Amino acid sequence: MKTPQINSDRLWKSLDEISVFGETPAGGLHRLAASKEDGQARDYVVAAARELGCTIRIDALGNTFMRRAGIDTSAKTILIGSHLDSQPLGGKYDGIYGVMAGLELLRVLHESKTETKHAVEVAVWTNEEGARFAPAMMGAAYFAGKFTADELLVRKDVDGIELGKSLTEIGYAGTDIVSPSEHKAYLEIHIEQGPILQDENLQIGVVTLVQGMRWFRIGITGQSGHTGTYPMETRRDALVAASHLIKAVQQIGLDQPLTGRATVGHLVVTPNSPNVIPGHVELMVEFRNPEVAVLDVMTNALVQAIKETAESYGVEISNQQELDSETINFTPELVDLVEQAAATSGKASKRVISGAGHDACQLSAVMPTTMIFIPCDKGISHAENEAITKEWAADGAQVLVETILSFDSK
Ligand code: GLV
Ligand code: MN
Ligand code: MN
Repeated sequence: MKTPQINSDRLWKSLDEISVFGETPAGGLHRLAASKEDGQARDYVVAAARELGCTIRIDALGNTFMRRAGIDTSAKTILIGSHLDSQPLGGKYDGIYGVMAGLELLRVLHESKTETKHAVEVAVWTNEEGARFAPAMMGAAYFAGKFTADELLVRKDVDGIELGKSLTEIGYAGTDIVSPSEHKAYLEIHIEQGPILQDENLQIGVVTLVQGMRWFRIGITGQSGHTGTYPMETRRDALVAASHLIKAVQQIGLDQPLTGRATVGHLVVTPNSPNVIPGHVELMVEFRNPEVAVLDVMTNALVQAIKETAESYGVEISNQQELDSETINFTPELVDLVEQAAATSGKASKRVISGAGHDACQLSAVMPTTMIFIPCDKGISHAENEAITKEWAADGAQVLVETILSFDSK
């Protein structure tokens, strides 16, 4: 049987339509997890899935599942998913493309009256980005059993608002119990967020691995005071200490040529006033590398840098690890299947590793998992000018359909 063809106009239109919820004047997206805009984007997807006759479930973390029944009611479900939240001033496709490609899959199965043996379910995972509530990949981690809902729903944003309260406000504090044991495998399609596929003129990245990532929340406490009266010599300025630590973090990354990634991307200065010496700074250090041994070296170097900074600047420094996501190797049989599906669909592909983290990392702990990448313009992501083409979007969605139908028939 010929594989049903996706409708690229419909997919592109849906990507356009969903981006109005949180669109920025510069053409990016500001849709933080569990915000009003996140609720509106979910409502849009859920309404579309209901029209296709899908069953909707929402769990305690707000993870939202849209299920199209299969013929064999005793067979496990094939799970697909990604996220609808964005970074602050982020892009319109990171995560969103995966959900909309999943919706296009449901639509094409529906209109072509394709009966699958397994049910096919598309998930929207809550708070993949971790920008508003730490850690990242939160909803997927809950689903995979890494945390309880009670542990996560009390996490607060910088304004002290709890995730649980925000989910209730947008109508996504669910009560459905959805278990990984219902599912046979997980597949996520995502933009590459790097330049390789575009540079090499390839339509599909067959993802084999996601590199490991660690986050550390650092609190630096000095002494606040009047900027006009307090002598320079005896200050314990938390922001000056932070600047030293930030340089040290950069060096930790540079000390691992080519593969090291070390970043401070989050900084909260208290009280943050021009005429008050900063008394407290909170910052987040993030390391990434495919090798655990390298992450260990970087982590030890951070401990050393914290000690040195505290001694040199007379400040106290706390360090709490917020995230430890190991390097994930995807399921070889599924990786092969994606590669074959790309070839069957006539798309040029290559095996790649992922520098970014994904919900799939959490899912891989509980079921066979893999990912498909599509190109992303100049590799720019987590930025308002993140962009893809209509053709890239369509090619990826077609390979998703091919992969799912081929998996279903095995
Ligand atoms: C996901 O957005 C990541 O930070 O890699
Ligand atoms: Mn993403
Ligand atoms: Mn992201």
